Amino acid sequence: MDFPLIRMRRLRRSEPMRTLVRETRLHPGALIAPLFICPGEGVRRAISSMPGVFNQSIDEAIKDATEAAKLGIGGFLLFGLPEMKDEQATGAWDDHGIVQQALRTMKRERALDSTLLIADVCLCEYMSHGHCGIVRSATGGAYEIENDSSVELIAKTAASLARAGADIVAPSDMMDGRVAAIREALDDEQLHDTPILSYASKFASAFYGPFREAADSAPQFGDRRSYQMDGANRREALREIELDLSEGADMVLMKPALPYLDVIREARDRYDVPLGAYQVSGEYSMLQAAFERGWLDRDRAMLESLISIRRAGADFIVTYFAQAAAKLL
Ligand code: PBG
Repeated sequence: MDFPLIRMRRLRRSEPMRTLVRETRLHPGALIAPLFICPGEGVRRAISSMPGVFNQSIDEAIKDATEAAKLGIGGFLLFGLPEMKDEQATGAWDDHGIVQQALRTMKRERALDSTLLIADVCLCEYMSHGHCGIVRSATGGAYEIENDSSVELIAKTAASLARAGADIVAPSDMMDGRVAAIREALDDEQLHDTPILSYASKFASAFYGPFREAADSAPQFGDRRSYQMDGANRREALREIELDLSEGADMVLMKPALPYLDVIREARDRYDVPLGAYQVSGEYSMLQAAFERGWLDRDRAMLESLISIRRAGADFIVTYFAQAAAKLL
């Protein structure tokens, strides 16, 4: 059977018809908004490379989060900008750290009960050198990001954030063995019910550029290619996911999103676990730049980028467009 019996355009003729046959949907509950928490009160500092995104003190973050919660947003992913950085990332695992304080305060806000508070677990924002782990320097300027000692701090950080009230902990460092270490640290403290959302498939990407301004976490030397994945590798991503699931990850986060949609699809087909994708800072900034020039239609391009990530197989999306998209949905 083909034309003229079949006319594909019959089902495209009106919006109700298109709505009826739409295969993929976006809903606010599947969108997660990142928050960058800084010390102080009444602070709302614009991030030049990410129009519409701010470093915010806890009180300001609560204002925005409350508005977003009213839109039905799924949750928030918290990052911290500590007062001080050092070479042990003390601010990450300190029970009085900036994100721990934010979590405790936000957990008392009834208006946020309908949303999830997800704590990004990483050391880079708290390290004076900006790497995601402990740096051991060798002679002649060589250095190494130590895996196992970093994992100890990462597990300690996750436990501290869960104690402070994180609904979910999300390790983003890409050290080996950290999911198992975090599970053990949580279970040791009777935090059996805190899920781990592992950034299992994280590529070393140029698209994280603007984030490093937002989180003040650019490495002071070298780059992250000895721990994050090479962008050319699809099979390696699947192996990373497999390992993290075997270590006890409850959910998996993949990033970046747009340049890696094929990897998201492959993971979706292979693993029956909840999958999230992170539409990262650079993906946001390049679209914003085009919107500012009037080169792309803001609402349509934003929603199209998000639906493509859902169509590739992501159940939920971490995105700087969360509030703006939720308003349109
Ligand atoms: C921390 C972390 C990064 C991002 C999320 N967690 C930065 C990095 O790995 O360099 C990137 C998020 C974004 O670009 O929006 N390790």
